[in-house]
Amino acid sequence: MTRPVQIIPSILAADYARLGDEVMKADQAGGDRIHLDMIDGHVFKNLSFGPRMFQALRAYTKKPFDVHLMATPAHEWIDALKEAGCDRILIHLDLESNIPNLIHSIHAHAMSVGLVLTPRDNAEEIRPFLDHIHVVNVMTVDPGFGGQLFLQAMMPKISEVRSIIGKRSIDLSVDGGVTRETAKLAARAGADCFVAGTSIFKSESKNYRDAITALRDAASLATSKSPETV
Ligand code: DX5
Ligand code: ZN
Repeated sequence: MTRPVQIIPSILAADYARLGDEVMKADQAGGDRIHLDMIDGHVFKNLSFGPRMFQALRAYTKKPFDVHLMATPAHEWIDALKEAGCDRILIHLDLESNIPNLIHSIHAHAMSVGLVLTPRDNAEEIRPFLDHIHVVNVMTVDPGFGGQLFLQAMMPKISEVRSIIGKRSIDLSVDGGVTRETAKLAARAGADCFVAGTSIFKSESKNYRDAITALRDAASLATSKSPETV
């Protein structure tokens, strides 16, 4: 059974002077969810957005908000993210010492959980948490910045995560350097969700609908029955 492809715009590459409009446009252009990178400058040397910003953006779309949490300690942010109207929290296995507690706290706030594997993490690390998560987000760049090149070395890990997930209802997203070309590769390896910043918000035509449709078509075709059409 093939799962429907989801394209998830990441606003890290959007125009910060008009973020509300950017989120609205990404929604109207067909983005399935909105990916919000929350980076606090401690572990990854970038500073991005926080809960108050997400709360302000909430008025511009009804699409679910995924917070990619790169702020520590994570558990101190869960209340504020719920309050801001976020739906799913993606947590870094490499940043947290007590993952079961964090998962419990996110669920207690009626939000769902994703696990993030950075390029250094092994696929096997997700195994203990499979009954409690909705998505595995495989980083295909080093975390912290948009606009980097997709790490093709992550392909075997994507396939491995897909086989560990098996028949469970867990999404497998790739995050970083996602373009039409790399989306095809990742889709063939088993990804069904594609987080994309630069290739949507900084696309040459600035036509977000075209950019999202192109990603969706590339990923869908790559996994359809006739490989010669890809
Ligand atoms: C990087 C972030 C990504 C980033 C992807 O740490 O997790 O979500 O926005 O950006 P692009 O698509 O530009 O590689
Ligand atoms: Zn991200």
